[in-house]
Amino acid sequence: MAILVTGGIGYIGSHTVVELMESGYDVIILDNLCNSEIIIKDRIEEITGKTVKFYEADLLDEERLEDIFRENDISAVIDFAALKAVGESVEEPLKYYCNNIGGLLALLKIMKKYNVKKLIFSSSATVYGVAEKMPVTEEDKLSVTNPYGRTKLMAEEILNDICKSDEKWSVVVLRYFNPVGAHESGLIGEDCEGIPSNIMPYIMKVAAGELEEVTVFGDDYNTMDGTGVRDYIHVVDLAKGHIKALEVVEKETGINTYNLGTGRGYSVLQLIKQFSEVVGKKVSYKILGRRAGDVAICYADPSKANKELNWKASLNIEDMCRDTWKWKSMSMGKEF
Ligand code: NAD
Ligand code: WQD
Repeated sequence: MAILVTGGIGYIGSHTVVELMESGYDVIILDNLCNSEIIIKDRIEEITGKTVKFYEADLLDEERLEDIFRENDISAVIDFAALKAVGESVEEPLKYYCNNIGGLLALLKIMKKYNVKKLIFSSSATVYGVAEKMPVTEEDKLSVTNPYGRTKLMAEEILNDICKSDEKWSVVVLRYFNPVGAHESGLIGEDCEGIPSNIMPYIMKVAAGELEEVTVFGDDYNTMDGTGVRDYIHVVDLAKGHIKALEVVEKETGINTYNLGTGRGYSVLQLIKQFSEVVGKKVSYKILGRRAGDVAICYADPSKANKELNWKASLNIEDMCRDTWKWKSMSMGKEF
């Protein structure tokens, strides 16, 4: 029996595929490569020393999806395939609804047809919107501030309805906080062209000399140093959370939702300082005004995942910075 990983060539997907393969799972990857490169498949194979079955396919292509379910003995699906750029989702909401919701619906239809009713879904802390108190728990009120976030909230609601309609479904929804870092080998990590919208890739590019200085969005928040505070989580810890979630979908039915975060927040300036220390060079920055839609502070209460999944983030902010830099150094062809 194999695990189908949609979006498995992407940032979080590729790290999860490595953990799955290293835990002895048989993995099949489906990805249309719209935000990833096929070389990552080779890298996954280099890290694990095993080959992985890959389909270059779009989740919206139902015929192709059906072929994959017919050709393979799939026991569960981990669904990472989605578009994730908040700003782009505001400019092109239809593209986001079609891909993220259309893709999920196509997947659920075929899963139902082939009686594969175990699913792990990538959600996001973005579903907490502007939370009233910190840390956020899974029971807190949900709201969203952009179309990307709305696709995640809608997806969660769809999954709730599916599980209510048929008690054989087993779904785990994982709400990720701010994934950063890379595999310790430096062979896989987060890539992006041009100016990154997320902070860690921005810091990484400044340290590498590709951008001049980090633009810090606001230093007048009610936080330790006035800059925004987030719950950064190492992508390998996040990937390991999926292995634990698989154990839950194997033995339980219904829908279970978990925050995957460390439970600790760091400010933008703390992150820049930590990165500078790890790489041993100054990372320049300038303070700009606040970015529209940003909240001051967001961090998780991960106690439900700690207890029920028996999972806890174990890598710290230094590990996150070190592994990000190793990945960047190696992709520039330099030794770390
Ligand atoms: P990513 O863009 O690196 O990976 C997504 C992968 O899915 C890519 O390889 C892309 O080519 C593929 N894909 C997208 N649409 C597809 C489609 N229709 N058919 C087939 N493949 C498709 O993103 P990521 O950071 O690895 O995110 C993975 C998941 O986690 C997404 O659902 C994202 O919304 C969610 N998430 C990400 C973050 C984050 O900060 N990175 C935070 C919370 C939640
Ligand atoms: C972190 C902090 C910024 C860029 C986003 C999505 C969320 C989720 C994770 C998918 C904030 C500050 C940033 C920069 C800065 N993704 N910042 N200069 O906004 O917490 O979350 O990614 O689900 O949905 O919204 O992450 O990395 O963009 O920002 O000062 O150039 O860094 O203001 O305080 P965010 P981020």
